Amino acid sequence: MQRLLILSLILLSSFAYAVEVRASEITRAVMLSNSCAACHGTDGNSPGAMPSINGKSAQFISRALLDFREGKREATVMGRHAAGYSDDEIALIADYFSTLP
Ligand code: HEC
Repeated sequence: MQRLLILSLILLSSFAYAVEVRASEITRAVMLSNSCAACHGTDGNSPGAMPSINGKSAQFISRALLDFREGKREATVMGRHAAGYSDDEIALIADYFSTLP
């Protein structure tokens, strides 16, 4: 009985830890993605001539950012902007915009 209780406590605390890690990842993704709003609109929903980036697949967004960063895709500003992000950060940003309507 006591063992069962200890096991439940361990399971519960690891679940709480996983939820906490996920929450901090989401917060970080939102923070990193705020810099895109100036050009691509709030939540990536562009009101003007810039392309909207909300709801595009994570694969499309991350491929675009990696290509801009490596200079493989022609750009006016995105080459410099994408240069500020690591691979992990690009993955977080791409994942985040892909979930927006
Ligand atoms: C200073 C304005 C500016 C900012 C800030 C900016 N972008 Fe861009 N983005 C552009 C422009 C302009 C293009 C077209 C390519 C170019 O000329 O650089 C573009 C193109 C893109 C494309 C390709 C879209 C398509 O349909 O092919 C993606 C994806 C993208 N940006 C993602 C982002 C993300 C993610 C951020 C934030 C991390 C961001 N951009 C920040 C201006 C900006």
